[in-house]
Amino acid sequence: NKYAVIMAGGVGSRFWPVSKQSFPKQFHDMLGLGKSLLQMTFTRLQAQIPANNILILTNEAYVDLVKEQLPEVLPENIVAEPAMRNTAPCILLAALKIQKMNPEASMIVAPSDHYIAEEDLFNEDLATTFAFCEQHPQALMTLGIQPTSPNTGYGYIEYNHETTAVKKVNQFREKPNLETAQQFLDAGNFLWNAGIFIWSVDAVVNAFAKAQPTMTQLFTNGMQVLNTEEEVSFLESEYPKAENISVDYAIMENSEEVYVLPARFSWNDLGTWGSLYDKLDKNEESNAIVNASVTAIASHGNMVRTAPGKKVILQGLEDYIVVDQDDVLMIIPKNAEQEIKEIRNTAMDKY
Ligand code: GDD
Ligand code: MG
Repeated sequence: NKYAVIMAGGVGSRFWPVSKQSFPKQFHDMLGLGKSLLQMTFTRLQAQIPANNILILTNEAYVDLVKEQLPEVLPENIVAEPAMRNTAPCILLAALKIQKMNPEASMIVAPSDHYIAEEDLFNEDLATTFAFCEQHPQALMTLGIQPTSPNTGYGYIEYNHETTAVKKVNQFREKPNLETAQQFLDAGNFLWNAGIFIWSVDAVVNAFAKAQPTMTQLFTNGMQVLNTEEEVSFLESEYPKAENISVDYAIMENSEEVYVLPARFSWNDLGTWGSLYDKLDKNEESNAIVNASVTAIASHGNMVRTAPGKKVILQGLEDYIVVDQDDVLMIIPKNAEQEIKEIRNTAMDKY
């Protein structure tokens, strides 16, 4: 009864110029381990979910990339979204498709672009959450990460102090502003949302019906064609009508049935060049280097990524991101990494 949904339709624009609309970060070997982040995600989930029960949802532009990178996935398990509408429509559609196959199913929703160490602990935590959902059929389960900074790129989960492993959530707040994030951090009973969800299909469909009736109506109108050949033309015409909203705002902030399991595995969302820097092994000068052959003189704390074999000479450079990809060379301070989205937009208008 266990299914997995891998969301692989984002653009990862803070990882520009490596992550691009035509080739987003989940399809890249960001860590230099010989596998893309998507391939690593699939392998990780296969430990507990039969391969035939793993669905990949992505934009139609990336279907060929998914097929190429995961030839073992059944073609009907790769679902093409005709428009980018963020994660809520993607998750509701996947839940309805699974519900139609198996109304008793539970599912994990996983991003395709995270790094998780200690996979054995991840698997144990996953087993705990699936078991919890079996006992609490309406629960929306999240995995919580101990926060280390007032990062405004994450969802925050306020939980009740309870001795049980799984805790009831008082409040789910997506991407608070810096001041609020700092208050949450100081309060001590907040966790970051890892962006991984576990629930029964019944629970998530009910949560959508309650908080997003319009979106629910849109997709349930096509219930009879889901999982058939006619699904494609239904989605072509109807999917773009769905509101562009993430699952965090769409249901998590509104539900009374949210629970959290503080995760025991270490997690990195590889959301920015800085988080990749944190994850990578650093050399003696604290530079993190992917592919390049770097000579560093009085240069520390830099994140350098180029094409394989590129020779890079640094002198007097501290805490910079240096990325050479195709026809773009980007050199910016690490503390400006949140601005890359904007820099990319400006640069793309220009060139
Ligand atoms: N199929 C599909 N379609 N996937 C999508 C789409 C879409 O339109 N948009 C985004 N995704 C995928 C991304 O590729 C990524 O794997 C995942 O969904 C999450 O989207 P992000 O855009 O990376 O979300 P976020 O990082 O801003 O926020 C989420 O993750 C944080 C942890 O990394 C939220 O859940 C936060 O609460 C959470 O803290
Ligand atoms: Mg993300």
